[in-house]
Amino acid sequence: MHDGSENGRPTEAAKAGPQAPAEAGPWLAAIAEAQDAAALQELRVRLLGKRGEITQRLKALGQLDPEARREAGRQVNLLKRSVEEALEARRAELERQRLEAQLASERVDVTLPGTRPPQGGLHLLTLVTNRLLDVFQSLGYEVVTGPELETDYYNFEALNFPPDHPARDTQDTFWTTDGRLLRTHTSPMQVRYMETHRPPFKVVVPGKVFRNEAVDVTHEAQFNQLEALVVGERITMADLRGAINEMAQALIGPGTKTRLQPTYFPFVEPGAEFAIWWTNPRTGREEWLELGGCGMVHPKVFEAAGYEGVTGFAFGFGIERLALVPYAIPDIRYFYQGDMRVLEQFRGVL
Ligand code: DAH
Repeated sequence: MHDGSENGRPTEAAKAGPQAPAEAGPWLAAIAEAQDAAALQELRVRLLGKRGEITQRLKALGQLDPEARREAGRQVNLLKRSVEEALEARRAELERQRLEAQLASERVDVTLPGTRPPQGGLHLLTLVTNRLLDVFQSLGYEVVTGPELETDYYNFEALNFPPDHPARDTQDTFWTTDGRLLRTHTSPMQVRYMETHRPPFKVVVPGKVFRNEAVDVTHEAQFNQLEALVVGERITMADLRGAINEMAQALIGPGTKTRLQPTYFPFVEPGAEFAIWWTNPRTGREEWLELGGCGMVHPKVFEAAGYEGVTGFAFGFGIERLALVPYAIPDIRYFYQGDMRVLEQFRGVL
């Protein structure tokens, strides 16, 4: 029996379906040339749809007498089958081409260098704080931190700010409904630390502090301070000067001069503000950089901590200032806005 193959290879006729009638030729050619699914669908409708040419012919069979109908029916069915097969073959081919194109377009060359994700870095304030802590640790200070939500007692009272003392007005802050406050300075850790430790010791306390400020280029409602407290026997003002000198020289360079000018803080006596002599990078001029406050720990503070017969000094300053001025940053708010154009400039400066 003829199986549509010669030497085991399919013939053209076999490809188009066994014994495809010759009249199928143009249709099969049109199908084979259809360029997309829509064109194929159009052909399907034209040939096999409700009013399609092949459908019409199948319907017409009814009018033939039985003899003629058998042969004609066989022919139409062959025609129909070969068209159906050709449609399916073309559909499969178009689908294969589509997949191939998609695969080619989605091809990934795994040997290409990757896209590096942007890498973060430490904030300038963190860099400056870490640098300060390094300096103090190398001088033998312990680093401790304390609560940002404080009580009136540790923030003011234990530091010898009497309830209605005007010094409180310079440190207006935010209060919680249960009477606690956001600490206005890192000094409350002085008494907290002394309550749980015995002298002699040297500690530094970095941390956030808060003020109810009208925010502008030099004032923020939140900023950072570093506090130092040294307590022992026969600690003097000379030790305080020495500590501030050491810090200044480690930060800025050997021989850096410092200055103390008398001033009032309730928790030290005598009290002073201190400054460092340095070259301002913005102007290139040498000048005093006012940094913070310091002094000998007030007897009332020792009393609050339950200490007797000891001496000590303390100092504290704003960390922002040590970052703003050296890097000539014009507005303190830049530190907290998270603007990458600002932050990126200080990646790895320290
Ligand atoms: N706590 C003070 C402030 O925020 C700064 C200060 C002054 C800290 C004198 C001290 C000190 O330790 O002795 O304004």
